[in-house]
Amino acid sequence: MQITYYGHSCFAVHVAGKNLLFDPFIRQNELAKHVEVEQIPADYILLSHGHFDHVSDAMEIEQRTGATLVSNYEITTWFQGKGVRKAHPMNHGGKWKFDFGTVRYTPAVHSSGLPDGAYGGNAGGFIVESKEGTLYYSGDTALFSDMKLIPQTGIKLDVAFLPIGDNFTMGVEEAIIASDFIQCNRIIGLHYDTFGFIKIDHKEAMEKFRKKGKELILLKIGEALTL
Ligand code: NI
Ligand code: MN
Repeated sequence: MQITYYGHSCFAVHVAGKNLLFDPFIRQNELAKHVEVEQIPADYILLSHGHFDHVSDAMEIEQRTGATLVSNYEITTWFQGKGVRKAHPMNHGGKWKFDFGTVRYTPAVHSSGLPDGAYGGNAGGFIVESKEGTLYYSGDTALFSDMKLIPQTGIKLDVAFLPIGDNFTMGVEEAIIASDFIQCNRIIGLHYDTFGFIKIDHKEAMEKFRKKGKELILLKIGEALTL
């Protein structure tokens, strides 16, 4: 499984020969100006919720790549109305077998309005299970105790992508508790630094995780990691 960070909450995951792209928000991200959006490959675009800082480049990338959009029913329907060709609607608690592995759309405690004010359903996240490993991408969320259901359902995570920027989502302290709930000690941070409200001290955040025997990975924008 190869992971590439494109800033904010946007990650590409290459798994089982397919390119998955989570929450593309690059062109409007001041910190990601050096990323060449037109070079990013995508077979699937997974959108956790409707907020602009998670969906703003989805349309452009879909038009170029013909990728399949995966999100909740309200979001896939909204994008299809705007011209997206292939979409797979899901909702909380459901799973589907794709050609790269199984995807579950998980609950998140957050909101989900679309950029034009349309209803974006309920915010969510994803679990991707494949032969190359299992990941949890929580999306924007508060800490919530139902995260405990993930290991209780028999899912063994290799890595989890959790927000750590606070203010709009949980912060570092809550993400550490979340990593206990999901029984995964390797966390990749997301949703930090992009805006004034969510700037964090990287060293301090990593140290807090280390003290609990956990690893917090903060990738540089454009950096890739093979797990
Ligand atoms: Ni959001
Ligand atoms: Mn957000």
